Amino acid sequence: MGNEMRIVTKGSKDKYIFTDVCDEHPESIEMLHKLAGDYVDTTTTKLDITNLDAIRAMVKENDVKVIVNCAAWTNVDGAEDPEKYDLVELLNAKAPENLAIAMKEVGGLLVHISTDYVFGGDPYNTPCKEDQKGTPTGVYGLTKLHGEQNIQKTGVNHLIFRTAWLYSEFGKNFVKTMLNLTASKPQLKVVFDQVGTPTYAYDLAAAIFDIIDNRKFEGNSGIYHYSNEGVCSWYDFTKMIAEFAGNTGCDIQPCHSDEFPSPVKRPAFSVLNKTKVKGVFGITVPYWTDSLRICIKNLE
Ligand SMILES: NC(=O)c1ccc[n+]([C@@H]2O[C@H](COP(=O)([O-])OP(=O)(O)OC[C@H]3O[C@@H](n4cnc5c(N)ncnc54)[C@H](OP(=O)(O)O)[C@@H]3O)[C@@H](O)[C@H]2O)c1
Repeated sequence: MGNEMRIVTKGSKDKYIFTDVCDEHPESIEMLHKLAGDYVDTTTTKLDITNLDAIRAMVKENDVKVIVNCAAWTNVDGAEDPEKYDLVELLNAKAPENLAIAMKEVGGLLVHISTDYVFGGDPYNTPCKEDQKGTPTGVYGLTKLHGEQNIQKTGVNHLIFRTAWLYSEFGKNFVKTMLNLTASKPQLKVVFDQVGTPTYAYDLAAAIFDIIDNRKFEGNSGIYHYSNEGVCSWYDFTKMIAEFAGNTGCDIQPCHSDEFPSPVKRPAFSVLNKTKVKGVFGITVPYWTDSLRICIKNLE
């Protein structure tokens, strides 16, 4: 998500600083230039968001008014390792609290990305609204829920965007994995009993930038749901990835989730209700296949 923020903020009147705990990966820099041209900012300032004093110093030195937090522990299965619990909680719950404290101290805004995985424990079959009770089924979802709660407890001005099935041209993600598999395997089974909505990270970043750039956040603190429009299963998603990429040689078949045992039970119906985000901020959300087509073209 951080790389998409670099792209959407490229021509901004405001100054943006991009931070990470490590250096930017060379392949990401190459992709940034491909997608956004020569003048996109590829510099990365080191910042560990588990360190509150380091955040405070960064905020003070640069007179930071808004933080967009795209960092998290995102390995859902890996989060189930009991030895990792403290680290996952530190990154997904304590670090967002640190950012909230730092922004509260200067009267700033924290924009934070959360997840549909805060739901899933209670069965439901209508799109989740923001006030639906969190019922995470695993450590990742639980710690992300703690992160939301910690931010809200500080009283900072905040926008928390719960999103789902995020993909992009950068890093590892479902679209890139399925592009490879459907190009290289004669057969593939993909689960059809988990449905949700893919989200092109660029679309979410563009919505966040619109809200910040046009100062739409004032008086609108709260949690918002954002994914692309539409609904599909992972099976349908894969079929469309293969079709857009022209990977016609792979026989893709639907299967049930129990054919792929996993340490975490994933939500069966992870569709987010986006009425609030569209109503409050007046944004238009692209349909999932329209955005998928763009991403796959960019990856060619
Ligand atoms: N991926 C999905 O399907 C999905 C779905 C719903 C919601 N989300 C949420 O969307 C957000 C963005 O997800 P993503 O997939 O773009 O994540 P990602 O690619 O895993 O990126 C997370 C970033 O956080 C950085 N980071 C790790 N520890 C840090 C620290 N101590 N200080 C500063 N940065 C640190 C990582 O650095 P390294 O590169 O060094 O690890 C990485 O650059 C997350 O909040 C995630 O929970 C994701």
